[in-house]
Amino acid sequence: MLLIKNGQIIDPESQKEYQADLLLDGPVIAGIGTYEDDGTWDTVIDASGCVVAPGLVDVHVHFRDPGQLHKEDIHTGAAAAAAGGFTTVITMANTVPPVDTVETLCYIIEEGKKTGIHVLPAAAISKGMEGKELTDMEDLKAAGAVGFTDDGKPLMDQKLVERAMNQAARLDVPLSFHEEDPSFIKDPGINHGAVSDKLGIYGSPAQAEESLTARDCRIALGTGAAVNIQHISSRNTVQTIRAARQAGARVYAEVTPHHFTLTEEAVLEKGTLAKMNPPLRTEADRQALIQGLKDGTIDLIATDHAPHSPEEKAKPLTEAPSGIIGLETALALAITELAIPGHLSLSQIIEKMSLNPAKLYHLPCGCIEPGAPGDIVIFNPTETWTVKKFHSKSSNSPFTGRQLTGKVKWTICDGKVVYKDSEEVVHR
Ligand code: DOR
Ligand code: ZN
Repeated sequence: MLLIKNGQIIDPESQKEYQADLLLDGPVIAGIGTYEDDGTWDTVIDASGCVVAPGLVDVHVHFRDPGQLHKEDIHTGAAAAAAGGFTTVITMANTVPPVDTVETLCYIIEEGKKTGIHVLPAAAISKGMEGKELTDMEDLKAAGAVGFTDDGKPLMDQKLVERAMNQAARLDVPLSFHEEDPSFIKDPGINHGAVSDKLGIYGSPAQAEESLTARDCRIALGTGAAVNIQHISSRNTVQTIRAARQAGARVYAEVTPHHFTLTEEAVLEKGTLAKMNPPLRTEADRQALIQGLKDGTIDLIATDHAPHSPEEKAKPLTEAPSGIIGLETALALAITELAIPGHLSLSQIIEKMSLNPAKLYHLPCGCIEPGAPGDIVIFNPTETWTVKKFHSKSSNSPFTGRQLTGKVKWTICDGKVVYKDSEEVVHR
């Protein structure tokens, strides 16, 4: 049994915060209360000064496995997740080959089981992620796909989108959509605006995201499917999602830590490390994303952890691949940018990083109560640290060198310590 003593428990489900000890028995929470450290427990963690919360759930990661192991693999990706306080991740389907067969899906599931955290694959919506023909969603779901997405590639055939949503509604499985209409885009990954003008390129206008989001919100309303609009970046997208939800659509939205922290200006300083799809936009967009988080329009914080090698990111701005890593800085960015300025409480941050994603994907985690999974993150909400090195195989982060507040101290999955920041665990 593992005892976590003296922590401040935050349970987003009951919305309660209180000082107590937490006892884990194997993979489940066995009790909450006061337990003496009398030498009978296998492991005792002193969580004084720390928050004890449900393990974080990231619905949007790229582990590049199979196919691009020079960027990341399932094991290094899972290590990065554990270091960031995540006990569950949902992997995107744009691997090589894409996750459009049961065979590729099962490879990820089996490899994921060896990592110590929960690695749950989403499968592709379309065969080969070509946007033409639906995958066998029923078979893939039966084999363990927790959701479907062509993330990285927007779906341009709206009839196919409607069929996918009808099928998803029937199977009761969420779909997630990357919304960027390529016909509006000349240079992906850089906002079309003041910074692209300075750089002498056209970039990627917010309209590319807004128009597809509007289309899919409308189709979601008609089909009743649960739809997650991924990594939203623009104020008009927030408004469209707010209206769709008011109209009764089962539409959810993700925001990434980089979109609520940075603006297009970061491209001038960080170059390709600030290039991602959809791009960083203006301060007004960033403020609208924060407002969407505050008023509940945006339910989910997800990283879009997108590793790329130094050689790939060393290419010129318009040629380098889009994407940045995010798992190891996500919680600290949320605390630094959302909690400390008073936009969200710690409990609301944890809700958007564990309970809400768990609910959307029908997972039993995201809460702290007896019988719930023993998936826990323990973090110090006031400790400051400087972003230096990563457990990920890649280091393409614009946050390297930045001082953040909020440090993950231990991550526990299925009742086992999968990450610890120091040697404060007492093994007996
Ligand atoms: O910037 C991005 N990179 N956005 C995506 O949606 C895909 C990702 C990747 O796979 O590198
Ligand atoms: Zn992505």
